[in-house]
Amino acid sequence: MSDDLIPLCEPSITGNAGAYVQDCLDTGWVSSVGDYVNRFEDMMAQAAGTGYAIAATSGTAALHLCLLAAKIGPGDKVLVPDMTFIATVNAVKYVGAEPVFVAPTTNDWHMDIGTIEAYLDDGGEATAILPAHLLGGCVDMDPLLRLAEKYDLIVIEDAAEGLGATYKGRKVGGMGKLGAFSFNGNKMITTGGGGMVVTNDEDLAERARHLSTQAKRPGAEYMFDDVGYNYRLTNVQAAMGCAQMEVLADHVAKKRAIAKTYNQTFADIPGITLMPVPDHTDCAWWMYTVLIDEAEFGMSSRDVMQALNEKRMITRPLWQPLHEAPMYRSASVIGDVGVSKILYDQGLSLPCSVTLTDDQQHRVIMAIKGFAP
Ligand SMILES: Cc1ncc(COP(=O)(O)O)c(C=O)c1O
Repeated sequence: MSDDLIPLCEPSITGNAGAYVQDCLDTGWVSSVGDYVNRFEDMMAQAAGTGYAIAATSGTAALHLCLLAAKIGPGDKVLVPDMTFIATVNAVKYVGAEPVFVAPTTNDWHMDIGTIEAYLDDGGEATAILPAHLLGGCVDMDPLLRLAEKYDLIVIEDAAEGLGATYKGRKVGGMGKLGAFSFNGNKMITTGGGGMVVTNDEDLAERARHLSTQAKRPGAEYMFDDVGYNYRLTNVQAAMGCAQMEVLADHVAKKRAIAKTYNQTFADIPGITLMPVPDHTDCAWWMYTVLIDEAEFGMSSRDVMQALNEKRMITRPLWQPLHEAPMYRSASVIGDVGVSKILYDQGLSLPCSVTLTDDQQHRVIMAIKGFAP
């Protein structure tokens, strides 16, 4: 990165990453078998509080494996957030199931559990719920889990953005039947690209692992008993993952400190709404995001993005409401998707890399204060 550019969320590769990767190169264990894969899986099982973890090539692959392991497919309806990254719903599409988009709530920007309850109580059909923990926060899981039990629904957590967050002291990713993490370059920790399935269910773990390795039966013979996938993370990437897990607590602490400083500054600026974090969530603040109300602030979120860009400070909007994407326009939608629209129109994620310096954060703050009414 050039000196004066302030990135949105760049990776921080420190500690033992170089040494562990070099070890893979020195020993030749560079592919999808090796000690680091096993170690990384053990570390992630611990981080999610689950009995099992299965490494995958991406968060999207991990989500796909979760749905495959749970045998969700054609004829099944899956409740998914309308406001999340597209990968959450694409995984549902991969297995031929039908998404039902759930509007977010202004209370926490996550899927509205009241909307899900009304839908199910009215006889709405579903096989599974796929809550996505967004921006380092988390879904209100207890009412969701109660509904899942009442209506016999499988819960698969998309925890791609949630690593390090807790819900009432419980670890994100390990509360449902299955969970998926991402280690993409911008995530809380990164392996360049990578993902992880977590679960407490031995059979589901076994099936996810089997499908991630081409569904090859054990032994020397090349015998296959299902349509499998080449979704196994490499040992080189896992080596990086192990080193990143060693500094996970530092990353979360830094993200929380960045959010605290931004929150203290923006709390009193008219037209800026902070991300609401209910008491039940200990937010990891992966991606620091605010809403900017043009009428009050005097500039739209896109104007601010452009103006900060000109100052070499990188920001990004939130996601297009998924029901508006052309391939999902005919899907069912429940709840007030006007909230999705507000989050999309007004949402702006600010520079929040683990590497962000105090001086860089100060420059971002001063720039935004300079635009304020
Ligand atoms: C909510 C969410 N789900 C899934 C993914 C997919 O992860 P990956 O990019 O590792 O495939 C991401 C991030 O990229 C995400 O933010």
